Amino acid sequence: MSRQTVTPEEKVRLEEVRRLIRYHDHRYYVLDDPVISDGEYDQLFNELLILEARYPEFASVDSPSHHIGGAVAEGFTAVQHVHPMLSLDNIFSIAEFRSFQEKLQRFLHTKQPLRFMIEPKVDGLAVELVYRQGVLHAGSTRGDGLVGENITAQLKTVKAIPLRLQDDQGFTIPDELYVRGEVFLSKQGFHRLNQLRHQQGEALFANPRNAAAGSLRQLDPRITSRRPLDFFVYGVANPEVLPAEGQEALLTVLSRFGFPVSPLVKGCALPAEVEQQYQQMLAIRHTLDYEVDGLVVKVDAFALQRRLGHTARAPRWAVAWKFPATQATTIIKAVDFQVGRTGVVTPVALLAPVEIDGVVVKRATLHNQDEMARKDLRLGDSVLVQRAGDVIPEVIKVLPELRNGAEQSIEFPISCPECGHPLVRIQGEAATRCVNNHCRAQQRQRLIYFAGKSGLDLEGLGKKNVEQLVQSGLVGDIADFFFLSAGPLASLEGWGEKSARNVLAAIENRKKIPMARFLGALGIRHVGEVTAGVLAEHFSSLQGLMEADEEQFRRIDGIGEQVAASLTMFFQDPHVHRMIERLQEGGLTLLPSGNKQEQPLAGRVFLFTGSLQAMSREEAKRLVKAKGGQVAATVSERVTDVVAGEKAGGKIKKARELQLPLLSEMDFLQLVSAGEE
Ligand code: IVH
Repeated sequence: MSRQTVTPEEKVRLEEVRRLIRYHDHRYYVLDDPVISDGEYDQLFNELLILEARYPEFASVDSPSHHIGGAVAEGFTAVQHVHPMLSLDNIFSIAEFRSFQEKLQRFLHTKQPLRFMIEPKVDGLAVELVYRQGVLHAGSTRGDGLVGENITAQLKTVKAIPLRLQDDQGFTIPDELYVRGEVFLSKQGFHRLNQLRHQQGEALFANPRNAAAGSLRQLDPRITSRRPLDFFVYGVANPEVLPAEGQEALLTVLSRFGFPVSPLVKGCALPAEVEQQYQQMLAIRHTLDYEVDGLVVKVDAFALQRRLGHTARAPRWAVAWKFPATQATTIIKAVDFQVGRTGVVTPVALLAPVEIDGVVVKRATLHNQDEMARKDLRLGDSVLVQRAGDVIPEVIKVLPELRNGAEQSIEFPISCPECGHPLVRIQGEAATRCVNNHCRAQQRQRLIYFAGKSGLDLEGLGKKNVEQLVQSGLVGDIADFFFLSAGPLASLEGWGEKSARNVLAAIENRKKIPMARFLGALGIRHVGEVTAGVLAEHFSSLQGLMEADEEQFRRIDGIGEQVAASLTMFFQDPHVHRMIERLQEGGLTLLPSGNKQEQPLAGRVFLFTGSLQAMSREEAKRLVKAKGGQVAATVSERVTDVVAGEKAGGKIKKARELQLPLLSEMDFLQLVSAGEE
């Protein structure tokens, strides 16, 4: 073997990385309070593995690479795992997946493609459940993989965990079964829990995983029982006692015993299918009600698993193909207080730019005054930032242990940063508001909204351009859009004749518009797409709306007190009357509410069968209706789309007979999200 020269810096770095990993392991596993993102931890761990592979002479018996973190918390008894609970190696790319699969083929001396099982890597807490004669006997956390904590009493409170195996399924109950799976909290459950903690002045959990861990490691199981914990099974440490030759068959047996198996598990005959499934899972992950941080890929056949074996840390027959990280740490440079179109003041953190999932994040919302106070945020603070899907990036938590004393406190303003009007806090509301309707910031935001995607969607009039129009004085209220002319537009910096012409054409195009769409675009407080539709059905003209009083609004089905008050305030404002008059002079023509034709699912009739993963059946039906479609309860020729969820049954057969188009849940999601931001 060729000896490498070791530079002192690398030796120092190796020790440093070990020290860091120990520190973060303790934060994560013992305190349930990590201060770096999983992605950053993975990077650190990778660095350690690389350094140790390069310099075997610095191997050390107590390196964190030998175990997977964790220690027994005070108050719980330790349990020695009969079969060690291994971890998984991580991969991050298609290239790594391909080399994983090639390595397996080399190891097994085969050129045949391997059959894999893929499972979502639900981000919760790994647990072991020991069943004796079919009865739940003991449950424990993973701990360091060899020794965990006895949390039997707590696990028994998780309703998804069977206390006794179902024995009427034609399978013999083994004497002893070591079941493994993931305990987790739904996103909804996590938010509810945090809301409650907020009301009670308790510290909030950073994410569902920590909330699940915190809930399971309650010494008082009665507290655990009040937390909506959930569970998916994914394996057994002694599968030889069951009639299953591979992972897929094993999951079937487990599900017959009464364990919940993720409906997203799939067998893949070819590696290319795994790659496809990865993309699919990535696409739907944000629509699931629980956090999934990757895909676990397992060789299906137990015979092959046994031949492949495992290293000290992880099996060779499985990997975790992680999704790009959604969190990162960075520093707060400043806080901007933004006034929205309804006057709500939102604190926004301006950050040292940091890349998350391929996008550079420079700003993140701090939500509201209370949230800011609760976090005790200061300028110069290190913070954990999250960007998940299309959601606006948010500051998840402050890392006060990284303060150096130079941080400065931040005051929430008492008057509007734009118009100086005193800010108001209405009791029971989280929002701090500027209540001056004529505040320039609010007007500007209303104009941006009116021209934007949720409004008239005027091409060429994005946020920046609208701001420019306001700045230059060409537009002051929404009616002004209808009186723009080519000359002044073309002479704006960066415009020119062509862009002026295009924008004018886009505006002209929208002057004839369904009433509901127009009402929605006005950005009236509490009036979204649905309410706008209701209004358009009840009023045939803007005139009618301006003449209605609060009582009249309130009598309409689907319009509550708050909305009625907001509508009255808007439509009785003389400024609004003038603006509407000018819009009409400018050519605004409202089309009657027969606008269903405009809606993307108009004329289509959906039938749902089987269970959906991303949303409830009710939500799915609501979505269809909101987009102008109809929902049928029985299969008939009238149906245009059959959406088949998991375990879809007899209706599918009938639908096939009638040759109706079948959609997977994924197809459906793509269909209803088409055209959304
Ligand atoms: S298999 C020997 N399957 O990922 C195989 N793990 O880093 C070990 N996890 O501790 C685990 N979903 O907490 C497996 N379908 C799945 C999983 C899964 C989530 C977690 C589990 C484990 C960690 C591995």
